Amino acid sequence: MFLRSLLLLLVLVGTAPLCRADDGYRLWLKYDLVADAGQRAQYRAAAQFIASNGSDAVLKTAAAELQRGLQGLLGQSVPVLGKADGSTKRGILLLIDQSANVSGSFGSSKEAYRIATQGKNLVVTGRSGAGVLYGVFALLRQLQMGQPLAALAVSSSPRIQYRLLNHWDNPNGTVERGYAGSSIWKWYELPQRLDPRYTDYARANASIGINGVAINNVNASARYLTAEYIQKVKALAGVMRPYGIRVYLSVFWAAPKVIGGLKTSDPLDAQVKQWWTAKTEEIYKEIPDFGGFLVKANSEGEPGPQDYGRTHADGANMLATALGQHDGIVMWRAFVYKAGSSDRFKQAFEEFKPLDGQFSPKVLVQVKNGPIDFQAREPFHPLFGAMPKTPLVLEVQITQEYLGFASHLVYLAPLFKECLDADTQTKGPGSTVAKVVDGSLDQHRISGIAGVANIGSDRNWTGHPMGQANWYAFGRLAWDYNLTSAAIATEWTKMTLTHEPKAVATIVEVMDKSRDIYVRYTTPLGLHHIMGQNIHYGPEPWLAEAGRPDWTAVYYHKADSVGLGFDRTARGSNALALYSPGVQKQWNDAKTCPLNYLLWFHHVSWKQPLSTGRTLWNELVTRYYTGADSVAWMQQRWATAKPALDPALFADVAARLDIQRREALWWRDACVLYFQTYARQPIPAPFAPPTRTLADVKTLVDLYQLK
Ligand code: GCU
Repeated sequence: MFLRSLLLLLVLVGTAPLCRADDGYRLWLKYDLVADAGQRAQYRAAAQFIASNGSDAVLKTAAAELQRGLQGLLGQSVPVLGKADGSTKRGILLLIDQSANVSGSFGSSKEAYRIATQGKNLVVTGRSGAGVLYGVFALLRQLQMGQPLAALAVSSSPRIQYRLLNHWDNPNGTVERGYAGSSIWKWYELPQRLDPRYTDYARANASIGINGVAINNVNASARYLTAEYIQKVKALAGVMRPYGIRVYLSVFWAAPKVIGGLKTSDPLDAQVKQWWTAKTEEIYKEIPDFGGFLVKANSEGEPGPQDYGRTHADGANMLATALGQHDGIVMWRAFVYKAGSSDRFKQAFEEFKPLDGQFSPKVLVQVKNGPIDFQAREPFHPLFGAMPKTPLVLEVQITQEYLGFASHLVYLAPLFKECLDADTQTKGPGSTVAKVVDGSLDQHRISGIAGVANIGSDRNWTGHPMGQANWYAFGRLAWDYNLTSAAIATEWTKMTLTHEPKAVATIVEVMDKSRDIYVRYTTPLGLHHIMGQNIHYGPEPWLAEAGRPDWTAVYYHKADSVGLGFDRTARGSNALALYSPGVQKQWNDAKTCPLNYLLWFHHVSWKQPLSTGRTLWNELVTRYYTGADSVAWMQQRWATAKPALDPALFADVAARLDIQRREALWWRDACVLYFQTYARQPIPAPFAPPTRTLADVKTLVDLYQLK
């Protein structure tokens, strides 16, 4: 009897990892046993060994990752050999072939890969270790998706060269606009202790093609440039390197003064130049593959070259010179809005467009997707297409600063794609933002894309379990912006949540609609920047005092007794004139302007009939109500997927959806009640007026902001 209990206990302990609740830590790299026995047998037959013969560190990582993935998926340990097994055994060869010249999408990138059958074996070829590593992750992804063996042969090349995450992490462990706990970087432990999490982070990034990380906040502390911190950064770079990832630093412009003891940070001052050159040398001595600098200057109170009467180009070029012969770049941010004109929409354009052609070849200008600031929907930034002589990095936000933090389910691939697919028309139709960014429109040698990370110390990395999909989607789109949002959601769902076909379809549908739903219950019809002050959470459309006018809400929505919206036509701020004539034509006329952008560009009368047949007021109310109701729909759909999901994960998302529903109603009531004070019209049927008053909802904002 005792023996039987002991045996039972051993069996239970042995299987414990299989039954544990899914805490989300493994992200999309779960590698659970392939459930279909037939499929598994086929894969097993094709993967009896791995052969990899180079000494390249990234190639070694590729072999180890493949071995680890196969171990989980096939439930068998696959040996890594120095060369292909000569017997009848079938295996997977990992090969660096610098001369690999393959047709099609393999392209010229060193990071491209090809998976092909060669005789009895499968061969993953890359022109570098990184290429092989990306090929291995692509292969594992296909196995995770349950693809038949014949479908495994693919080749692929990244469309954009620098694919970075930007961490807005501070030395004290806080994360600016971070909603998933504190920073994953434990500066107080570095360089002595390397948290194993760093390696898991690198694996996740490499698996989706991310090849660079700017590890600290753009509102940068000068501390990162001290000898002490360079040692810490070096330690992190050592973890990233075998995964093909380079480390970058955000730099504080006034560092020569603050830590260098100089009297100035003027970029044309000889001592300042000397300081940056010496500092750069010091960094490269410790981190030979250091990626370069990310700079926020003369923006939101940060110091910069303009403090000395110099331009952004003077500043960026000085840093580029400091980089010298090193293989590094400068990413200079265009997120600036000094009140030159009366419309913040135009200010970055006004500062940067005249500088086109003045930047040195190592400089890329980093531009947010839209002209204001990561709103739930923005027209593409007018700088895209307007600076043909300068490579532009597209910056998007993965962390949900204006999109409900880690409480709201908002799948961001549709937002990213909306920008990438937007047609600037600057060189005729088809001049998409994507082609500006990948450099093909203007034949640039270098190209980049950056996503502000949503990663923190929470066990599941992103707070909201579904937020992982946004990290995943960013990487996949950075690699290939032609992938569809739904295809990416399907991959992620299958790898992360479930393979059950109905549940996959349901979840993908919810994800794909979620961003539009969020827009409807927060900022429909092109409303923008009406969120809670400072924290950027919840509605505060009545905000009229905030230190400067362009931090208020009334500046943007311009509600009055006549109507709603910011007139950016020639009658108003004329921001529309920043776009090419073709784009102006699409948006210039309030009668034909797509409703999604209407209030971005027009002040529309409350009684104006729209293309939907409803007046502006009725359409606005309809969108707030149907948007909030769609969250109830999301809840219902999520509930149907329950049997196919891990119970803990199901419950976590369900609880967050409850919050989202409650807050969608908060947004709805706050906005319709507030705008009603201007429109002076009833809530149209079939909608029932809110049961609370405007004063009631205003106290909610106070609560959230702890006023
Ligand atoms: C937003 C955000 C800031 C951030 C800034 C930036 O304004 O609220 O926290 O520093 O963007 O991108 O620099």
